[in-house]
Amino acid sequence: MPLHAGDSLPVGQHDIEIQANRQAWQRRPQLRAVYRGFHELIASRLDRRIPGHIVELGSGMGSIKEVIPDCVTTDLFPNPWLDRQENAYCLSNADASISNLILFDVWHHLRYPATALTEFRRALAPGGRLIVFDPAVSWTGRLVYGLFHHEPIGLGQPVTWDAPDGFRPADADYFAAQGAATRIFWRREAPARLAGWDVSEVTPLASFEYFATGGFSGPQIGGPAMSRFWRRLDRGLSRWPNLFAARLLVVLKRNAVSLQTSRF
Ligand SMILES: C[S@@+](CC[C@H](N)C(=O)[O-])C[C@H]1O[C@@H](n2cnc3c(N)ncnc32)[C@H](O)[C@@H]1O
Repeated sequence: MPLHAGDSLPVGQHDIEIQANRQAWQRRPQLRAVYRGFHELIASRLDRRIPGHIVELGSGMGSIKEVIPDCVTTDLFPNPWLDRQENAYCLSNADASISNLILFDVWHHLRYPATALTEFRRALAPGGRLIVFDPAVSWTGRLVYGLFHHEPIGLGQPVTWDAPDGFRPADADYFAAQGAATRIFWRREAPARLAGWDVSEVTPLASFEYFATGGFSGPQIGGPAMSRFWRRLDRGLSRWPNLFAARLLVVLKRNAVSLQTSRF
């Protein structure tokens, strides 16, 4: 079902998609190979010198464990293949207990990014990393995600940074704005909102290899034999991110700035 910017669906829509994706996963070797590459990229950005747990939020199918076996996988839904149930707005982790916090295709589902960042900062150890991997909305990204993905891009939509008074994390709905990471980390629309963080990396990447998988439901183009071709193409085209980027890798480090924070 196509969504429009600002639309809200019951949160259970996420679980409907997780179950459908899990079935498609078995039938899509090309997609599995591309995800493995994405997970390896994320793994290469972990800082294992920091004491604490490696945690993924919104793990969905939990496939990150194939590459990062010691990652604690979590989601809003207590699916049996995951380690734990967690809500980004209210983590069960003690203060400063996480070394690396991973969000793969989750950032654009956070309706209240500043509220989530406050919670991430609380749970991360000093110097701990927040690693975000999300859609990049270049001209190509805009075209492909806009035409072929059911979630809105929402570039013109105001960002609702903070949850309203009285918001309860359990009331989180299904929200999507695929352009959210692009606006916040790549275009830096509101740098003051990143106080408390050192932005140590923002890498937009071309990913025609990913588009060629058709995602979880579209047609697959070319088959595994083409993967070397796509990878070379992506390496070349990543030199023109504004035109071709499809994926954004962001690494933030929790800095020592003292901020006033509140928790639910
Ligand atoms: C697009 S899926 C990505 C799943 C998985 N990371 C992957 O890449 O295959 C988004 C996931 O984020 C989860 N999610 C959405 N809002 C969340 C929140 N407030 N806290 C934790 N997880 C959330 C959803 O349940 C869903 O599993």
